[in-house]
Parts: sequence; structure tokens; C-alpha cells
Amino acid sequence: MSRYAFVTGADRGLGLALVKGLIARGFTVFAGQYMPEWTELAELKQAQGDSLLLVPLDIGSGDSVRKAAEQVSAVTDRLELVINAAAILGGIEATVEDELDFEDIQRVFNVNTLGTLRVTNALTGHLLKGEGRLLVNISSEAGSVEDSSRDSWFAYCMSKSALNMQSKLVYNQIAPQGGKVLLVHPGWVRTYMNGYFNTEADLTADESAAAILGLADRFLLPGFKQERLCLVDYTGKPMNW
Ligand SMILES: NC(=O)c1ccc[n+]([C@@H]2O[C@H](COP(=O)([O-])OP(=O)(O)OC[C@H]3O[C@@H](n4cnc5c(N)ncnc54)[C@H](OP(=O)(O)O)[C@@H]3O)[C@@H](O)[C@H]2O)c1
Repeated sequence: MSRYAFVTGADRGLGLALVKGLIARGFTVFAGQYMPEWTELAELKQAQGDSLLLVPLDIGSGDSVRKAAEQVSAVTDRLELVINAAAILGGIEATVEDELDFEDIQRVFNVNTLGTLRVTNALTGHLLKGEGRLLVNISSEAGSVEDSSRDSWFAYCMSKSALNMQSKLVYNQIAPQGGKVLLVHPGWVRTYMNGYFNTEADLTADESAAAILGLADRFLLPGFKQERLCLVDYTGKPMNW
């Protein structure tokens, strides 16, 4: 019987690497496709066939998320895991002494915070019917209030702090039903977050995805019980909220 996973932001970067890693583990993966003009997912589909199901998905749109959830329901009523990887950076230059772009901040919130919640809200029913019952939210060290030393990046940092709180609220609801939440900073990863491919970061997307899926493997073991929700890095080390 197929075991299904759902991944957002799967066109490139970490999301795409997670999709590849999940397929290698035997999952059939619904991959949220936001950039149909980017060919990597389509090429992967050619190679993988039925183990990859492409789903048009803009997590910034309630309508798009609803349609994606309907596409899932047409195939299965259960998902073993859902990974929220899609996010955008927004402006990172302006400090409180500059003119802040509030529309940009709202756009980032609508994707990183509300978009993630839209997806989780639409798919929690599927998740709780599965055996894995694992939600993976890709957060960031940038969301840590305690460790913050930046004086700009308002949109991204605040959106990830709010994602952390969102993850706790979701955890509080689903944990008594056997649900688990992995809230993870993926490291500094060579991806397209900045709008271009960052060759300077520490990790390749494949290395980060392998580490995160290694953590997920543990959460998916039969009988695994999550005692509490922590923000962890990709090695599993707890981080300050
Ligand atoms: N890279 C790092 O060092 C780093 C560090 C900490 C946390 N993270 C987190 O890791 C996750 C993956 O990011 P990444 O580094 O792989 O960046 P990425 O290469 O930019 O991948 C993110 C993907 O999400 C897509 N996306 C943007 N808006 C979307 C929307 N409304 N709906 C659906 N998909 C959308 C992006 O498309 P576009 O390219 O068109 O925007 C892109 O394909 C994010 O949650 C990010 O915050 C990354």
C-alpha cells in the first residue's frame, strides 16, 4: 500500500531535495509546484513516474490550497507526513530608522506564516488518519527571539517567529491524538532564497534534506512519543525560541 507525503515549495532548493529523499524512502509524494516554468520537478516526474504527484500550489492563496487538498483527497484520505518548506525572504535591508515596506512585510507573512497555516489547516484531517502523523515545519534561526542580533529582516524574522508559535498551537491540538511536529532550522543552505543560487552557504540542499529526513525517520518510528515541542536545528540540537 502506498504511503503518502506532501511537500510545499518543491520546485527547487530544500523542498525539491526533500521530495527526492522521500521518494528514495518509498513514499509517494505530492509536490507543491509554484513555478511551472522551472523544469526540475517536471524532470523528476519523468524519472519517477507514479511516485511523484505534481500539485499546483500557491500557499499564499486560500483557493489554491483548497484545490491542492482536493487533489490529495481524490487520491487518498491519509498522509503520513506534511512538510511545509515554501517561504520567501522579502526585504532585508531596512531598519526601524528607514522607510519600511509594509506591503512587502504583509506579503511575506501571507506566505511564510499564513500560507503554512493554510496548508496545515487543510491537511490535518489527512495527517491524523495516517500512521506517521508528522508535521514538519521548516523554520529558521532567524525566527529565534533569544538569539537575534539582526537589526533588519523584519518580514522574514517576524514571520518565522510567528511560525514557531503557530507550530506550538498545532502541536498542542494534535499531540493528544498522536500527532507530532518537527520544527526545524535547516542550516545555512545553498538554495535560491535570495533570488539567486547562493553558492556560499554551508550545506547543499541534499545534505540539509538528508539530515532533516533522518530526524523525521526517528519521529516516524512506531511507538515514538514526542514529549514536547522544541525548535531544533538540522542536527537535532535544540535552539532557543
Ligand atoms: N536557505 C537557507 O539557508 C535557509 C535557512 C533557514 C531557513 N530556510 C528555510 O528553508 C525553506 C526552504 O527554502 P529554500 O532555502 O529552499 O529556498 P528556495 O530555494 O527559495 O525554495 C523555496 C521555494 O518555495 C517557493 N515559493 C515561494 N512562494 C511560494 C508560494 N506562495 N507558494 C508555494 N511555493 C512558494 C519558491 O519559489 P520562488 O523561488 O519563486 O520564490 C521556491 O521554489 C524555507 O522555509 C526557508 O525559510 C532556508
